[in-house]
Amino acid sequence: MNTGKRVLLIIGGGIAAYKCHELIRLMRKAGIAVTPVLTGAAQEFVTPLSISALAEERVYTDLFDLTDEAEMGHIQLSRVADLVVVAPATASLMARMAQGHADDLATTLLLATDTPVLIAPAMNVRMWDHAATKRNLATLTGDGVRVVGPNEGDMACGEFGFGRMAEPQEILDAVLRQLAGGGPLAGKRVLVTSGPTHEPIDPVRYIANRSSGAQGAAIAAALRDLGAEVLMVSGPATAPLPGGVEVIPVETAEEMMAAVQGALPADAAVFAAAVADWRVENSVGSKIKKDGSGIIPPLTLAENPDILKTISHLRDGRRPGLVVGFAAETDDVIANAIAKRLRKGCDWIVANDVSPGTGIMGGAENAVTLITGEGSEAWPRMGKAEVATRLAARIAEALA
Ligand code: CTP
Repeated sequence: MNTGKRVLLIIGGGIAAYKCHELIRLMRKAGIAVTPVLTGAAQEFVTPLSISALAEERVYTDLFDLTDEAEMGHIQLSRVADLVVVAPATASLMARMAQGHADDLATTLLLATDTPVLIAPAMNVRMWDHAATKRNLATLTGDGVRVVGPNEGDMACGEFGFGRMAEPQEILDAVLRQLAGGGPLAGKRVLVTSGPTHEPIDPVRYIANRSSGAQGAAIAAALRDLGAEVLMVSGPATAPLPGGVEVIPVETAEEMMAAVQGALPADAAVFAAAVADWRVENSVGSKIKKDGSGIIPPLTLAENPDILKTISHLRDGRRPGLVVGFAAETDDVIANAIAKRLRKGCDWIVANDVSPGTGIMGGAENAVTLITGEGSEAWPRMGKAEVATRLAARIAEALA
């Protein structure tokens, strides 16, 4: 995967610099190219060689000659990226940024850049609490600098409190949000349900289905990449959750219903979850034992709330402007999906054939037909990420 995006990563001189190894790995995995810059102090904590190996790029340090005509100048270097990330942003680096210093490569780049800047502060709790750091932070945020963390926790110096650098995954999430900003869905809030639901029989057993949550996760990521604020209500999915979206984890259909209602209002909602139609009404709080009599305990099922139908029928501005459902069918796919759209009251329905031979449920590809009020459109079989990109683009057009 290649997003075509690039981050200029300025690594400051703090013990948290070691976390940049993982941060670079995560960014590369997310398809983001990384141009690393190490301050002099950072080189006491991490080596240019290890950073360069992970980024698969050359590392820029103060030894890099900014005046050499054959080399990239600092102005050019400061403009190569879509986002500048400073991690760890030490107290000293923040102070020099706030003051507008340009006395080394890192601060020179930060002063010369016209791209957005995201900092991940990391320092001792007393330094973070100091009035001077508070002033510098206020100056930086006033200048438009975005901040991720710091977190509360144990520090390398043995103290406890705020000052621990945000974890690499949190920084990646913030990076993805920043990179997506300004897309056609900027300012729009979109809700996505995803994954299966688990309906407990007893504390160790449950009824579930084969959904991996891969299509829902891909849709959430595609909407995020168009700039939407994405809120994902996810059942226990096996597919990885996308970064840069808010996730409300749920287990049962009833929990999913409550989370969805609590997450409204939204500009659009995509119901990609494979919600269990029934829950076990006689579920119990302790493990059911075999008593050797050969009598199989009967399960009494009750119908789960239909989340899509309930949300589609909301009134008073609580109904999302565009409601998209999914229809997983095995027979008469299109006819069933057209009827389902009317029955559920949603605006669009994405129909797919989940018969065992198709390999779609739990697989990497999907073959869908988009059914709207205007008619139906069969899309060729493609990767779930492509289906998601295409659907997100259609949603962006509809909300424009
Ligand atoms: N859905 C939902 N809540 C439910 C059941 C389904 O929100 N309790 C949503 C799904 O997320 C999907 C759509 O409704 O967007 C269609 O789900 P599906 O299971 O295919 O349809 P059913 O209503 O269960 O109809 P049937 O079982 O008859 O095919």
